[in-house]
Amino acid sequence: MREMKNQRQLEYERSLFNADALMVSAREKADELGLLGISLSFSEASLLTLVVQLAKCRKFVEIGTLTGFSSLAILEGIESGGHLWTFEKNPVHAKIADELLQAGATAKGKSVQVVQGDAEQELKTLEDQGPFDGIFIDGNKSAYLKYLDWAEKNIKQGGLIIADNVFLQGTVWGEENKKFSTKQIEVMKEFNKRLSDPEKYLFSLVPTTEGLIVAQKRTS
Ligand SMILES: C[S@@+](CC[C@H](N)C(=O)[O-])C[C@H]1O[C@@H](n2cnc3c(N)ncnc32)[C@H](O)[C@@H]1O
Repeated sequence: MREMKNQRQLEYERSLFNADALMVSAREKADELGLLGISLSFSEASLLTLVVQLAKCRKFVEIGTLTGFSSLAILEGIESGGHLWTFEKNPVHAKIADELLQAGATAKGKSVQVVQGDAEQELKTLEDQGPFDGIFIDGNKSAYLKYLDWAEKNIKQGGLIIADNVFLQGTVWGEENKKFSTKQIEVMKEFNKRLSDPEKYLFSLVPTTEGLIVAQKRTS
């Protein structure tokens, strides 16, 4: 939970972030649900926008929409005319996000589809529209390896695989946390190990509070 971070630091980061009204609204809605702490921070969102833009992404996939804050950051970064598919299991989150995201996408000259359902089941329905330029994984942690399997098949060479929460609250380096099962911890360790393979990825592990991986599939 990002509230653990120094509040004055968060406020400082926010003061440097150029949030539009929809992004502010997405955070307010997450706050109303008591879930602001699981949304990206402003600094993490700006990094997402930057890398998506640098990689010139047009077709992007997100797992874990919540109220659409990170989706708006992705929409900001993708090329004009680009499309975002974002998966959200919880119908309340999906409904809130859809309203904000349709307005955000139209204003930015892009398009978005909020797919309400379990990404573990629904991702396969997208496959014939691939390959995709990138994916942001920020949903249920127990399925991160499944999502990586999907990304390895469906993200193009040179495309991005970005993932949040890869420290799993320190459990990946042995800190105790009863919230996570041994299986979940093993899944995350294996996920991180696979993405750090230099033969397959250009890899960076950004030491945010939660741990953020930014990886690019090698072209050769
Ligand atoms: C950490 S929050 C996402 C935060 C969001 N990316 C942001 O930064 O604003 C995780 C979201 O994933 C959703 N989720 C959990 N399991 C899922 C699944 N199997 N398929 C799709 N969404 C899922 C949750 O309902 C929750 O809204």
